[in-house]
Amino acid sequence: MTAVPALVVEDLAVEFRTRSGTVRALERVSFAVPKGETLAIVGESGSGKSVTAYAVMGILDPAGRITSGRAMLGGLDLLAASADQVAAVRGREIAMIFQNPRTALNPIRTVGQQIADVLIRHANVPRREAPGRAVELLRDVGITDPARRAKAYPFEMSGGMCQRVMIAIALAAKPSVLIADEPTTGLDVTTQAVIMDLIGDLARDIGMATIFITHDLALAAQRADRIVVMHAGHVVENATTAELFARPRHPYTAELIAATPDAAASLAALASIPGSLPDLRRLDLPPCRYAERCPRRLGDCDAALPAAPAIPEHVVACWNPLS
Ligand SMILES: Nc1ncnc2c1ncn2[C@@H]1O[C@H](COP(=O)(O)OP(=O)(O)OP(=O)(O)O)[C@@H](O)[C@H]1O
Ligand SMILES: [Mg+2]
Repeated sequence: MTAVPALVVEDLAVEFRTRSGTVRALERVSFAVPKGETLAIVGESGSGKSVTAYAVMGILDPAGRITSGRAMLGGLDLLAASADQVAAVRGREIAMIFQNPRTALNPIRTVGQQIADVLIRHANVPRREAPGRAVELLRDVGITDPARRAKAYPFEMSGGMCQRVMIAIALAAKPSVLIADEPTTGLDVTTQAVIMDLIGDLARDIGMATIFITHDLALAAQRADRIVVMHAGHVVENATTAELFARPRHPYTAELIAATPDAAASLAALASIPGSLPDLRRLDLPPCRYAERCPRRLGDCDAALPAAPAIPEHVVACWNPLS
């Protein structure tokens, strides 16, 4: 693939110090997302999707520590950059939208003011032009009567409307990378589709790379060019969407796909995969964290995790993959 990556994450590891031990939340997480493409990160609850996003955005919980890795945004390593450097690109070059838009918005400023703030701070829009541009952005994200809506507070809007406002804020400065962490969870199905279409259209317009985090494999299949499958803090497989569904190679991916036969169920209903995620505080975690659940486990699986190239066509971290 010759596409230029907008963001490259390599060998990311994160741990959390807790009173009951160290949680090894991420290990050797690598992926790249090219300009103009959508990469989905899928996995069960607790697999490390959000921690990956927070580490890249520089907003990890204070108990968390990045113990290795790079996150290259153009020439800048976000993980090695100073707080000032990261602050300069966050919101401008890389932006994030969250699962619960209402709590992510400021409750005591109107949505128009909040969009205007971002335009002034990150998009070099002159102060007197910002309110008018904020109204235009509200129109761009499909809000009717945007001039009136700009004067509303978040509590006066529906969840879907608040998510549109979050998208307007995230995209105000036309970032090169958008991370959307479960952006439609909690919205009704129709609004979900509208919001996903909106993100897709806007991404196409500005050539943005999108990282779409979801536990919904079916939604990932519909929306992403490439899918990264995470299990217990590891990337177990990384392939184009078509390739992943045609030829899943990791036993876990194969189980996930088998558990969503009509591509309509969600990973939340994965009762059919035996076992659960291992406790990431365990000192004896096996190198392959799926080994204890895996029907294809071999002796080698307990020796070391197979090395995976950082920016791959089809990566599978497995000693005994399906062919
Ligand atoms: N502040 C924290 N302290 C301790 N452990 C944490 C902390 N934040 C996350 N973790 C751990 O890191 C792991 C990954 O969590 P993460 O929130 O990234 O999962 P996720 O894939 O986003 O799940 P979900 O689908 O539920 O959002 C989990 O084992 C979680 O318990
Ligand atoms: Mg999460």
